[in-house]
Amino acid sequence: MSSTSAGNTAGTPGTIARTGATGGAGMLPELVTWSSSFEWDRSFVHEDLLGSAAHVTMLARQKLVGLEDAKALRDALLAMHGEANRGSLALPSNEEDVHMAVESELGRRLGAVAGRLHTARSRNDQVALDLRMYVRGQAATTLRQTADLVAYLCDRAKSERELVLPAYTHRQRAQPISVGFLFAAWGAALSRAADLVAYALESCDRSPIGSGACSGSSLPIDRALTARLLGFHRPTLNALDTVGDRDFSLDWTWAGARVLLALSRLSTDVIDYATSEFGFVTLDGEIAAGSSMMPQKRNPDMFELVRGESARGIGNVVTMLTLVKGLPTGYNRDLQEDRRATLETGPLVQGALRAVSLSLPRVNFVKERCAAGLAEGFTQATDLAEALVRKGIPFREAYKAVGALVRHAVEAKKPLSAVGPEEAQRFHEGLDEGALAALAPLTAVHAKESQGGTGPKALAEQLHTLHAHVDRLRTRADAVPTLQAIAEAIAKEPLELPTAG
Ligand code: ARG
Repeated sequence: MSSTSAGNTAGTPGTIARTGATGGAGMLPELVTWSSSFEWDRSFVHEDLLGSAAHVTMLARQKLVGLEDAKALRDALLAMHGEANRGSLALPSNEEDVHMAVESELGRRLGAVAGRLHTARSRNDQVALDLRMYVRGQAATTLRQTADLVAYLCDRAKSERELVLPAYTHRQRAQPISVGFLFAAWGAALSRAADLVAYALESCDRSPIGSGACSGSSLPIDRALTARLLGFHRPTLNALDTVGDRDFSLDWTWAGARVLLALSRLSTDVIDYATSEFGFVTLDGEIAAGSSMMPQKRNPDMFELVRGESARGIGNVVTMLTLVKGLPTGYNRDLQEDRRATLETGPLVQGALRAVSLSLPRVNFVKERCAAGLAEGFTQATDLAEALVRKGIPFREAYKAVGALVRHAVEAKKPLSAVGPEEAQRFHEGLDEGALAALAPLTAVHAKESQGGTGPKALAEQLHTLHAHVDRLRTRADAVPTLQAIAEAIAKEPLELPTAG
């Protein structure tokens, strides 16, 4: 801690964390400015203030700071938190980071007593705390939003389960599915990404404060108390590991990238389907963009932007991986570079989720165009072969017979659906009228009732599972305490416990 009290350093740039041993106030102003992280970490000023309010509560309880001083400090910190909520908190802008700016402002308000706050704490554990709390809040918001979108995809899946379109393999028409089944596929992918967001929440759920610079404190601090006050499950295990640990941030950027990847794939489907070549969907005017030159254009820009923004999400993961790779154990200032990637992830992912949530309801599947993709019946060839299997015919025999029938239809330049039973039976006697009924697209969709299939019962089961998943995700997000709830809990926490007896 600085040998000068915070009270008399306000207004001198970047001096709180400097002592006689570090050349006093002598650091080059240009380098103070260059090395400052304040521009980024002012985003977590709320977390910083509450972290400090919890810390000083603990210091009072452990009799490391007197009652009067602790009360003055906590009241001031909570007052500043209130001001930050209202947007009226002014902090000195010439400090190295948000932690210094808060301490400096506290010094301006309270004088020398502000110098007691940083007892048994370092900015190394402080920044780890602020970041974890910030990521936790962002992850909870993202989780809720992702769960809402999965729920919406389930609703669309249910309401469009009778609409058919071709599914693709190798970008070739493959088999008929329901539009509902496609929505459920998107929902399944997105819910897996949401699990990673939930995992990032777990990664954050240990309190780093009290680790100090790298090895703990010789003072009798109570890390369990600060952990509880700040809504953490428990303190981190090892101080040296803690101050260099950005796994939670890595997990968070990865989770964000995974959500973006799921949205990106969905977007690519919509972009394709909106082309005149596919024509499976139309876009409402509210979400379609125009061209500045071509008057006829109705472009899927929102989905293209979501796909494009996922590149940035991936970039953030690479930044975090590269940042921590090669760092030795303990704190290194390099870690300050976690800021952009970590802080950008929330707004990036939430923006994309919002864009897709607003746009998807304005994407309309065109029944006739979707059905036209199936009309010639070739995509139902597997269903026809399976109809023969149901009659006891070995699959390979059925497969070959239907293959020959398809070749015949192609040569005769007619759709499979236009081939009658007599004609079909030339290829296999089992290809009677009953078997040929399997060619009707909706029949084919309804028949696939294997678990995970496109049939209505199988789909209903998937939606049931997805709904249960959504409920679990929402419960997990709701378990994260709001900063307001934390502020209220800290304000109520006694600074001194009645002596037992
Ligand atoms: N500004 C730093 C950061 O954002 C805070 C920790 C600095 N620690 C230090 N020993 N210089 O990561």
